[in-house]
Amino acid sequence: MKQTLALHSATVVERADQGGFCVIALHAPGVAVLAQPGQFIEVLPPHESGEFFLPRPMSIMLAEPATGNVHFAFKEVGRGTRRLAALRIGDRVRTFGPLGRGWSIPEANQTLLLVGGGVGFPPLYFQAWKQISDGGSRSSPVFIIGARSGSELLYVDRIRALNVEVEIATDDGSRGFHGSAVELMEEILERRNEVEWRVQACGPTPMLAALARAVSERGLSAEVSLETPMACGVGACMGCAVPLDPEGTLKDKLAILCEQGPVYDAAEPDWPALMQQVRPASADQGQERSVELSTEFAGIEMANPVVLASGTFGYGAEYGRVIDLDRVGAVITKSVSEKPRIGNPAPRIRELPTGMLNAIGLQNVGVDRFIQEKLPLFDGLSTRLIVNVVGHDEDEYLRVLDRLAGHSRIDGIELNLSCPNVEGGMRIATDPATIERVVHAARECCDFPLIVKLTPNVTDIASVARAAEAGGADAISLINTLVGMAIDLDTRRPWISRGTAGYSGPGVKPVALAMTWLVTQAVSIPVLGGGGIGTAEDACEFLVAGASAVSIGTTSFVDPGAAIRIADGIAKWLRGQGCRSVTEVVGTLRSWPGAAGA
Ligand SMILES: Cc1cc2nc3c(=O)[nH]c(=O)nc-3n(C[C@H](O)[C@H](O)[C@H](O)COP(=O)(O)OP(=O)(O)OC[C@H]3O[C@@H](n4cnc5c(N)ncnc54)[C@H](O)[C@@H]3O)c2cc1C
Ligand SMILES: Cc1cc2nc3c(=O)[nH]c(=O)nc-3n(C[C@H](O)[C@H](O)[C@H](O)COP(=O)(O)O)c2cc1C
Ligand code: FES
Repeated sequence: MKQTLALHSATVVERADQGGFCVIALHAPGVAVLAQPGQFIEVLPPHESGEFFLPRPMSIMLAEPATGNVHFAFKEVGRGTRRLAALRIGDRVRTFGPLGRGWSIPEANQTLLLVGGGVGFPPLYFQAWKQISDGGSRSSPVFIIGARSGSELLYVDRIRALNVEVEIATDDGSRGFHGSAVELMEEILERRNEVEWRVQACGPTPMLAALARAVSERGLSAEVSLETPMACGVGACMGCAVPLDPEGTLKDKLAILCEQGPVYDAAEPDWPALMQQVRPASADQGQERSVELSTEFAGIEMANPVVLASGTFGYGAEYGRVIDLDRVGAVITKSVSEKPRIGNPAPRIRELPTGMLNAIGLQNVGVDRFIQEKLPLFDGLSTRLIVNVVGHDEDEYLRVLDRLAGHSRIDGIELNLSCPNVEGGMRIATDPATIERVVHAARECCDFPLIVKLTPNVTDIASVARAAEAGGADAISLINTLVGMAIDLDTRRPWISRGTAGYSGPGVKPVALAMTWLVTQAVSIPVLGGGGIGTAEDACEFLVAGASAVSIGTTSFVDPGAAIRIADGIAKWLRGQGCRSVTEVVGTLRSWPGAAGA
């Protein structure tokens, strides 16, 4: 097969910054000789494991076959672009391209009218550069640059230096035409209607939708460059579908943007559907507003909704030397059984790129030593204490609960019906009838708020949760670890002594979030959601999905202060959303196109 893509470990050879915008040149000769205006590259900057995963698509702003350099320009909007912005000359990135279908070449009698809104100018810059460098009899392109205000106009001088006719539009009228880039385009189309224009545009979706409407009203056509999140960039994963107008010129309802785009005839996209995907501008940060993080969960009053997950914070005191435990909503202890348990043989843990495997086997000091030695460590602390209880069988659960009864320092019980790492753990965990019976029996002998912790290793989490609710649980806790495995290729044996183990950390978050959402739809008792939470944003997703509180587990091994950082971050996000209390956002997932019944 003919190779039309180049894969490079490319060196950064130039960088320039202006107004929060950054232009980087990579030495990628294979891409430079093949690239056409409107195409893009995938760029993967160096990053921490777990920070992000996929390369980021970037339009080619300039490709110079003579030097082998490929330029792209971007604004920092998230994790990937933050890493790109940190690149310095000499750093290396992985890149491949050129990808996608670019701009058409204007006919000899046509003049290019390039419309760039906001940060949409890079692919148009390459088109203008190419038209000028190729020469010919065509007149110089007209390049409209639009911004909200004069101070946000980018690279005007560099664009002017191409010898194109530059027209400026600002929404506030502080520079050039007073109005949007599309309004200026309409004005030019009216004023210079003798010209045979070829309109090509890149910018935010609302601008492109307005442009598509404006040209269609005049019976003209235009090309627009669209953006959507991508994975492979080569048409292999089908992840980058964009909706097309069913009445439009293309027959399909969806287009694979990385292959058939990113440049489309402006008549092709389904603009109303695309507009539904536009994210609202970030809400104002509202720093001065105070936010109430305190919340009540299953009858337990907590200072905030962030809880330390069982088994990842010992009995509390281990990390109490490092962080102020009163700044977390609650500590859930390591599972406590009737008798001390020595746990599984070593090795018990294995690090993974996206988290870890563990098979501790519920090693713990037993309920009597817990009461004598561990419980007093919480005297003088105001954080809530939830004791995680485990048993080999129903009777052991009841005996442990009986021993804990009456200890006033305990605020709640988490019944661990979910450990994948001990014999029999999964038997109780996966059968709804057994769960209902065990929870019912526990409810009968326990006066503390009763939170039932479920395993994700089931096919129908909703029915398991309903069984716990029917048994009398006050709340559900999700998720315990997923069954996982890792193999040592030198010995061809599992890394973990038990063979299989429990998988936790960032990699499980999507599973945990989905299960949290499914369970909140299925039961009317509150849910403690967790699994893979590493940031405040992760935690807020769980709250929006319906969790009334969130648990932080494996992340505490990476950053013992994570729970406090996450509680602070939740408050900041709530402020930005204009909320005064955490309860305002719980379960506020909105209906979306494609939702059942929508
Ligand atoms: C063909 C193509 C060409 C592009 N060219 C450029 C360019 O020249 N300059 C430039 O600055 N950006 C360009 N983008 C957008 C750029 O790829 C994303 O902004 C970038 O991937 C965000 O990565 P991040 O890790 O910084 O943000 P993330 O942390 O992943 O996300 C931050 C925010 O950006 C949104 N987002 C993420 N990826 C995209 C995307 N691909 N399209 C729209 N929104 C997204 C997320 O939903 C989130 O709200 C292009 C995208 C495509 C598909
Ligand atoms: C080393 C380790 C030990 C754990 N021990 C227990 C335990 O004793 N009881 C329990 O209910 N969950 C235990 N868990 C599961 C966590 O409480 C949590 O449910 C799971 O790790 C998913 O969350 P995370 O991805 O945030 O870690 C343990 C997890 C880890 C990583
Ligand atoms: S990103 Fe994989 S098909 Fe487009």
